[in-house]
Amino acid sequence: MVNVVFLHPDLGIGGAERAVIDAALALKSRGHTVRFVTAHHDVGHCFEETKDGTLMVTSVGDWLPRKILGRFYAFCAYLRMIYAAAYLVFFSGLKLDVVFCDQISACIPVLRLSGAKILFYCHFPDMLLTQRRSFLKRLYRAPIDWLEEKTTGMAHSVLVNSKFTAGVFRDTFKSLTHIEPEVLYPIPDFTAFDQPVEPPSEQLLPACKVIFLSINRYERKKNLSLAIRSLALLKEELSSLDDVHLVMAGGYDERVNENKEYFKELSHMTKELNLAKHVTFLRSFSDAEKRTLLKYSTCLLYTPSNEHFGIVPIEAMYMKCPVVAVRSGGPLETIAHGETGFLCEPTPKDFAAAMRKFVENGTLAEKLGKAGYERVMKKFSFVAFTSQLDNIIGQLCED
Ligand SMILES: *[C@@H]1O[C@H](CO)[C@@H](O)[C@H](O)[C@H]1NC(C)=O
Ligand SMILES: *[C@@H]1O[C@H](CO)[C@@H](O)[C@H](O)[C@H]1NC(C)=O
Repeated sequence: MVNVVFLHPDLGIGGAERAVIDAALALKSRGHTVRFVTAHHDVGHCFEETKDGTLMVTSVGDWLPRKILGRFYAFCAYLRMIYAAAYLVFFSGLKLDVVFCDQISACIPVLRLSGAKILFYCHFPDMLLTQRRSFLKRLYRAPIDWLEEKTTGMAHSVLVNSKFTAGVFRDTFKSLTHIEPEVLYPIPDFTAFDQPVEPPSEQLLPACKVIFLSINRYERKKNLSLAIRSLALLKEELSSLDDVHLVMAGGYDERVNENKEYFKELSHMTKELNLAKHVTFLRSFSDAEKRTLLKYSTCLLYTPSNEHFGIVPIEAMYMKCPVVAVRSGGPLETIAHGETGFLCEPTPKDFAAAMRKFVENGTLAEKLGKAGYERVMKKFSFVAFTSQLDNIIGQLCED
C-alpha cells in the first residue's frame, strides 16, 4: 500500500477541489493511506469529507498573505504553496511515497527533495487564465510563466481533466513535449440523481410529447440563444410546433448583471421570434427539479462552444436523456455521436436537424438515452475512476 499526500493551495468548495477529494476517496477505498496538506482550509466552507474525519487535513502557512497591495495574487499563491511543500518535506514527519500536487507546480522542486514520486494535476495552464494588458503585468508574469513551465516539467507524471486540456497543455508548454499528460476525467456526484424522481408539475414541464431542455447558467458564453434560434428554425421547417416545447433552465443570480441582462435579452428574443408559448424559462431550480427535468425531457441541448469539460451532459446521460451538443471541447469526449446523442456545429441549421430527428422518431430518445447511461457507467463512474487512478499510482511507484 502506498502513502499518498495531497498538496493543495486552497481546499474550499469547487469543481477542482471536488475532483481531488474524489481522487483521495478513490485511493483510500483501495487501501492506500491518504492525507491532505493545504495552505488554506476553512471548516465553514469546505466539503464534508474534509472535516468529518474521512480525510485528514493539515493546514499550514495560512498566515502568509494572499495578496500584496491588492495585487500579486499568483506570486502569493506560489509562495504559500512552496511554504506548505517545505513543511511537508522537512517537518511533517509523514511518510511519502507519492505526492499528488494540485494546481500549482512551483513547489515541485521542493517536493522532489523528498524522494517521493510527484503526480501533478493540471486543471488548466495558469498562464492562460490571466490577462496581460499592460507591460508591467507582462513583466511580472514572465518569470512566473517560465517557472510554471519549468516546474511542471519536473513532475514524474502529469494528469489533466480532459483530452481537451491535454491539447491545451501541449500547445502551451512547448518545451515539455516529452511529457504525455494522462487524462483522468472528473466524476460527477450522482447521489442526488439516485433519489426518487417526482413527476413534473405543469409549471415545471408542460404536457408535451417532445421536450427540449437546456441547462446552463444565464451567461453569454454559454450561447443559450442557439437553443432558441434552433427552435425557431425547427418551427419554420415543420410549419408548426404542436406538442414541442423548450425549457430553458439555468442558474441565475439577481446580483449578477450579466445574468439579468442575458435573461432579458433571451425572453425578448423568444417574443420576437413568436415562440413565447413554446418556451419556458426557469431561473434557478432545486436538485429535485433537475432530476425531474432530465428524466422527463426528450433531449438536452448543450449550447456552449469550447467548454473545458461540462458536467451537465454526463448528468443527463446518467438520467437516460440524450444530448445534442456543440462539436468542440468536452462534449467531443463525453458524447458518442449518433449513439448517445448528436454533435453539431454551433448553428441553428445543424441543431434543428438533430432536434427534428427526435420529433420525427418517437423511439430515438429512449434508445440513445439507454446507451448514454451505459457510457457513463463505463467511462465516468467512481469505479472506473478508481481503477484508473489506482493503476496510475501503481505504475508511478514501480518506475
Ligand atoms: C452561438 O450561436 C449562434 C447562433 O445563435 C452562432 O451563430 C454562433 O456561432 C455561436 N457562437 C459560438 C461561439 O459558437
Ligand atoms: C427511429 O430510431 C430508432 C433508434 O435509432 C431506429 O432503430 C429506427 O429505425 C428509427 N425509425 C425511423 C422510422 O427512422
